[in-house]
Amino acid sequence: MVEVFLFMASFSGRGQGKLILMGEHAVVYGKHAVGTHLSRGLSLRLRALKRAPGRLDPLRSLDSKAREAYRSAAREAGVDPDRYGLTIASRLPVGQGLGSSAAFSVAASRALLAAAGRGAPDAEVLRLAGVMERVFHGTPSGMDAVMALGRGPVIFRKGAPPERLVPGRPLALVVILSGTSPSTRTMVEKVRRGCDRDRSTYGSLIDAAGDLVLQGLEAIRRGSLAELGRAMNENHAVLRALGVSTPALDRLVEKARTAGALGAKLTGGGGGGAVIALASARAHAGEIRKKLNMGKNSFMTIMRV
Ligand code: PMV
Repeated sequence: MVEVFLFMASFSGRGQGKLILMGEHAVVYGKHAVGTHLSRGLSLRLRALKRAPGRLDPLRSLDSKAREAYRSAAREAGVDPDRYGLTIASRLPVGQGLGSSAAFSVAASRALLAAAGRGAPDAEVLRLAGVMERVFHGTPSGMDAVMALGRGPVIFRKGAPPERLVPGRPLALVVILSGTSPSTRTMVEKVRRGCDRDRSTYGSLIDAAGDLVLQGLEAIRRGSLAELGRAMNENHAVLRALGVSTPALDRLVEKARTAGALGAKLTGGGGGGAVIALASARAHAGEIRKKLNMGKNSFMTIMRV
């Protein structure tokens, strides 16, 4: 069968990768979290199709979850998902805690709002991206999508407008990929079950994480790297106690500290994914990377002032 696509209007959107510096999981329970966007991200293009019979599925590049999420957002935006072919270009590893689903959700929301002939202010993008993120993750805090907007370091608290964070000095971070793909939804549910089972222990751990984030925030504002490193180390210990770390992540955290990091912890949902390590400056981050000797499985990112 001959397939004829006649390309007409096209609409594009972009979403950035993200890095949670501190506060993952506790943020689901109303605590503060802090993170930023990555310079790598995902670009998406929708092309209006004039189709002939026997056409291929225009969403064939998406897996079933992504397709369901995209269709829900399209309906919400008043766009017929079958009218558009979709292409994606991404430099984000999938399932490594670097926010590939949020980047996709934000990019698709921006493109869909454009296709609907509407403006795409951040609040509207976040509302639509939230529809998609709920398909991916169940009950996400919404933090990943805020970072995927690409507006720099933010302080996030569920239900409150995100606040801009201005670090006292740039933060040089090494991101280390564990290579295993966790499911955020599974990890969030694991913590939820823990809370149901033992409210007092889990409640104390979540409170402790919340306090550490506030200490970390103060340290970031003052540019006190030693203090921030200590808060990150303690945040990792709390995440471990919450049951979201793994022996492989603990080993990477240890390895990063041995390589000279001022602090190291898992980032994101845990159960696999990535670890972040704080360096004193860009050159120091380079030295840590060299000692880790993990090639493309580690990279540097700078959280700017
Ligand atoms: O797994 P990630 O990188 O998408 O991180 C999710 C962060 C959590 O706090 C665990 C969940 C959430 O919705 O905030």
